[in-house]
Amino acid sequence: MNGDIEKIMISEEQIAVKVKELGGILAEEYRDKNPLLICVLKGAIIFMADLIRQMDIRCEMDFMAVSSYGSGTESSGMVRILKDLDTSVQDRHVIVVEDIMDSGLTLSRLVELLRHREAASVKVVTLLNKPDRRKVEITPDYSGYDIPDEFVVGYGLDYAENYRNLPYIGVLKPEVYAK
Ligand code: XMP
Ligand code: MG
Repeated sequence: MNGDIEKIMISEEQIAVKVKELGGILAEEYRDKNPLLICVLKGAIIFMADLIRQMDIRCEMDFMAVSSYGSGTESSGMVRILKDLDTSVQDRHVIVVEDIMDSGLTLSRLVELLRHREAASVKVVTLLNKPDRRKVEITPDYSGYDIPDEFVVGYGLDYAENYRNLPYIGVLKPEVYAK
């Protein structure tokens, strides 16, 4: 285990089981719909890569990078597009793939934007969900694990751009933040 990690919250094996389950559900739901999966960079790339390989259907992928205005770890509700899609979402069945839903502000704005661009449907799949932190009324359509209000890293999630490569979801030792 990485020396900066205090505890593993969700193991590599647990993640694999859940991703397979979610992929199976999505494949069933979107068969013959050629869905466009949108990976929200950067956190969701690992989840996206694993999820899409559990979906035995025709589908496409694209990438988007957004940042919430404001500083610190709280998102402000304004979403700035850092990298937009290459694909038009008009009349497409869109699945937004996220690593974690926290306040819900980022995703609610993103869903709003995709609807405005006239997607045929927009649904959200998130690996992790922190329901206690919600500031806007939004629930993921598909969700892997509900987790408590603790800052987590690994499997795409970072602290200061590090730890994304850990194969599990873990909690950092408090002294790491003091560095
Ligand atoms: P919202 O708008 O739902 O934003 O508040 C979700 C985004 O916040 C980040 N986030 C985290 N990142 N560990 C992380 O590494 C966490 O525990 C965590 N909680 C929220 C993340 O970028 C997510 O997309
Ligand atoms: Mg993210």
